[in-house]
Amino acid sequence: MRLSAYFLPTLKENPAEAQVVSHRLMLRAGMIKQTSAGIYTWLPLGLRVLRKIENIVREEQNRAGAIEVLMPTIQPADLWRESGRYDDYGKEMLRIVDRHEREMLFGPTAEEVITDVFRHTIRSYKDLPINLYNIQWKFRDEIRPRFGIMRGREFLMKDAYSFDLDAAGARRTYNKMFVAYLRTFARMGLKAVPLRADTGPIGGDMSHEFAILADTGETEVHCHRDCVEYDILSEDVDFNADLEDRVGYWTSLYAAADEMHDPAMFEKGVPEDMRVNARGIEVGHIFFFGTKYSEAMGAQVAGPDGEPVSVEMGSYGIGVSRLVAGIIEASHDDDGIIWPASVAPFMAGLINLKSGDGACDAACDDIYRKLSAAGVEVLYDDTEGRAGVKFSTMDLIGLPWQIIVGPRGVKSGVVELKNRATGEREELSPESLVSRLTG
Ligand SMILES: Nc1ncnc2c1ncn2[C@@H]1O[C@H](COP(=O)(O)OP(=O)(O)O)[C@@H](O)[C@H]1O
Ligand SMILES: [Mg+2]
Repeated sequence: MRLSAYFLPTLKENPAEAQVVSHRLMLRAGMIKQTSAGIYTWLPLGLRVLRKIENIVREEQNRAGAIEVLMPTIQPADLWRESGRYDDYGKEMLRIVDRHEREMLFGPTAEEVITDVFRHTIRSYKDLPINLYNIQWKFRDEIRPRFGIMRGREFLMKDAYSFDLDAAGARRTYNKMFVAYLRTFARMGLKAVPLRADTGPIGGDMSHEFAILADTGETEVHCHRDCVEYDILSEDVDFNADLEDRVGYWTSLYAAADEMHDPAMFEKGVPEDMRVNARGIEVGHIFFFGTKYSEAMGAQVAGPDGEPVSVEMGSYGIGVSRLVAGIIEASHDDDGIIWPASVAPFMAGLINLKSGDGACDAACDDIYRKLSAAGVEVLYDDTEGRAGVKFSTMDLIGLPWQIIVGPRGVKSGVVELKNRATGEREELSPESLVSRLTG
């Protein structure tokens, strides 16, 4: 992408309304624009990151055996009356009346819709287990939307819903999602800690919130250091195998948020030098709730003996749009964002220090063409701005690599490659640069 033909409305000054670094940097880097309180337009650079995150989430859900669907954002109130949640949900639900005076709502979550799909399509235990997910916009009329898209009113969520014949099956499904979540966040360069969470009236141990550590997080995290340091991606996970031991290892490590924290147990169970007390951002939540919706809404299958069985359900959410901010909270410096390569909007920024100069233009065009042909996404700053401005914009938007092309280097056959994360620079020939970034 040539910057001269792109839409990247960056800001020089820090916007006064932004209290946390991710919000500030997203506004300054031209990623989002607030349209109304807690409601944002995603500008091109922000949208590219959102889509990358979405795709990692999708790949890991698919790998774990979940199947993608797309449910509507607008739902009928009647479904929520069946589950009993229409009145309970309160003011966070945006209620809408259509032209026929029918009560509708903008979905804050989708248990009712998916349970309705299930009960009209699945009849036999032989069709179980099944786990359906979608990545769709949700609306919750939060009293205090804040920190930009971190706590918005409209936000993008991946929500999966599982259906099993019995509690043992539901546990296998839960374990798959547990491991899928660890992999998902790790692929984005994040350390996510699975915190034991409240299971409500169901009881048991099948509810976890996944939190990434960041000082601005709203959740207090107390955990064993091994939760933070473990490298899940170095393992080969077979999602068809029994994952109970693997998940058991994680759940045996102490990790709790404020409301579930037991200081005495923490001190007894975790050696002092292994205790982590930090703040975290909740980026995911997995939850088993048994037959709560299947009983209320009549989601039954014929069991092996022909008798009807209410299915055992769980739901599994990931805050896809919140992750964009979460990753920035976890990865930035004074100059701007530092994108992990897996979610970066472009892999490299190509800076032409002297646009209009024949030799510089030719060298840049050549690099741009070769990298693009090899599938490397490049943002080419071909504008006539000052070098200092170009450098600071590239640092701000945080692409993993910067390729700097100037008249002096071109004359001696070299360009400069800068690593945004480490700040390391090196000079190399355009050919070795291309093979480095494509290799
Ligand atoms: N207002 C919001 N803005 C952005 N992301 C949100 C918001 N509310 C929830 N999420 C994300 O969606 C995920 C699943 O939501 P859920 O657990 O149902 O939310 P909550 O914990 O607020 O009840 C959360 O882990 C979080 O990452
Ligand atoms: Mg939650």
